[in-house]
Amino acid sequence: MAFPEGFIRELKQRNDITDIISSYVTLRRRGRNLVGLCPFHGEKTPSFNIYTETESFYCFGCGAAGDVISFIMRIENLDYVEAVKYLAQRAGMSMPEDSYDDTMSRLRKRIYEANREAARFYYRSLYSREGSEGLDYLHGRALSDATIRHFGLGYADESWDSLCGHLKEKGFSNNELVSANLAVGRKDGKGVYDRFRSRVMFPIIDLRGNVIAFGGRIMTDEKPKYLNTSDTPVFKKSENLFSLNNAKNTGERTLILCEGYMDVIAVNQAGFQNAVATLGTALTGEQAMLMKRYADEVIICYDADEAGQKATARAIPLLRGAGLNVRVLTVPNGKDPDEFIKSKGADGAAAFRAIIEKSGNDVDYRLQKLRSGYDLSIPDSKVRFLEEAAKFIATLSSPIERDVYMSRICGEFSVDKNAFAGQVDRLLSRRRFEDSKKEFRRIRDDLSGANDKINTDRRAKPRSSSAEEALIAYLISNPDSSKYISERLSAEQFGNSLMKRYYLYLQERVSNGLDPLNNVSADLTRDETNRLYRIIADHSSVRMTREALDEYIEVITEESQKPDKAEISRMTADELRQSLERMKEKKQ
Ligand code: GTP
Ligand code: MN
Repeated sequence: MAFPEGFIRELKQRNDITDIISSYVTLRRRGRNLVGLCPFHGEKTPSFNIYTETESFYCFGCGAAGDVISFIMRIENLDYVEAVKYLAQRAGMSMPEDSYDDTMSRLRKRIYEANREAARFYYRSLYSREGSEGLDYLHGRALSDATIRHFGLGYADESWDSLCGHLKEKGFSNNELVSANLAVGRKDGKGVYDRFRSRVMFPIIDLRGNVIAFGGRIMTDEKPKYLNTSDTPVFKKSENLFSLNNAKNTGERTLILCEGYMDVIAVNQAGFQNAVATLGTALTGEQAMLMKRYADEVIICYDADEAGQKATARAIPLLRGAGLNVRVLTVPNGKDPDEFIKSKGADGAAAFRAIIEKSGNDVDYRLQKLRSGYDLSIPDSKVRFLEEAAKFIATLSSPIERDVYMSRICGEFSVDKNAFAGQVDRLLSRRRFEDSKKEFRRIRDDLSGANDKINTDRRAKPRSSSAEEALIAYLISNPDSSKYISERLSAEQFGNSLMKRYYLYLQERVSNGLDPLNNVSADLTRDETNRLYRIIADHSSVRMTREALDEYIEVITEESQKPDKAEISRMTADELRQSLERMKEKKQ
């Protein structure tokens, strides 16, 4: 059951792909197309293309591709139906009468509703008599009632079923509660119980204001200290950030990245709304890209302990890779930001502002760290430090940046700049050589299909795969050739199973008079969509003539007559000889 084709067509017409994408990506014109920096992976030179003619996008770097609906699904983290609704609303279109009845979409909607109701329940409970332990705990951690309200903090009491009981009364089913990870199914299969008990609760809210998950902190020394919602149909912890819903509205384009919920909240209370935190895991590339949408600069504000410093070292390249400037704030006396602010009492806000202003950039931070590992009064040790520093400077991609730091180090340690720069240059060209070798291997494997997990037949059948890919691209840009092709070729002759799937799908649509790609975002998986658009992009400069088409058909026919490995092993000697004769005849 899908949306009517005409509705989707109109939806796409009223949501021009260039308009939509340009509100997320800065685009430049290049020939007939537009290019920009891909919002789905970190890059410095643009490989993200919009093809206005086919109303599609394709990234040569990471392979992300599709139509305007696929774009919204991916960038806004929505499923198909939600993305369609989003675009319909934007264009002021009403949804068709008997709207899409998709089980997964319905479940997602129910999970959002259950989470919202749970957040209300936890909040009320915090201010009820049973919640006094939770409220005392939060007050004891210096949070004001205004802050508690702002973040919608709450309390899960010690009972095994108070939330479940409440939500069931509101009409939620056991299945919905377990899917939301608010409840856990009992081992004996008889019913469910509350997942969060005796904890203060931190709701996690997405950019559209949906409650998507919770973190819960125990108020004693018991373990685990924090319990977070596991991944659910509406929540992936690696792709969300705590409090980004608040932080995105400050208009500052700087974010403060903390380690935990309490740090973000304390930093907020000290007057900085632009703090976010990962959700109990190390920072991911997706989260870095997400930050890049709202910021140009990130101040890392992790704990001063060893774990925090390790996490800082890991976060820097990820953030830089997403195109963000990075600064590192070191909280004095081994404290985390929350403890630091609290320890300063009424002066907390001013003291925190002061250390933010003092925070250096990430290169200073790394050099400082490096330096603290060497006793610079010993010449031998100084040499080793300089070698390590040269190695580090060689990893910086900006020549200006390299020059600035080389000058500084050489000045500070009275070393000859030419000698130092020579060392950096050698390391740099070695690294470039390694990088291009890697790039070469990647392209080679790509072409041979060696590591291809989607187009798995390509490696074994390169010749028929190439012809079939070209034929698919031809059929998409010349739907009127559908009959001509089907009269000469049957789907059974395809050697590549993915191409065969595309072929059957496209032929079915075209023979029903439908635009071949109008509905891909609903009918194909994300991987299948990406790959299909890659095939289109790869063939965009290939001439689409009837002669070329005839050649593809000929190759596919020829390849389909070759016996495959399994058949050969079953053949008798005579059959094998005959088969070889036939192939030789064809060649002549
Ligand atoms: P407080 O002790 O309440 O101040 O928390 P904190 O933020 O100082 O704690 P910590 O530095 O130990 O942890 C930082 C973040 O890691 C927390 O906000 C959680 O998201 C996560 N975390 C900490 N402990 C656990 C745990 O036991 N389990 C899980 N899943 N996550 C944890
Ligand atoms: Mn803490």
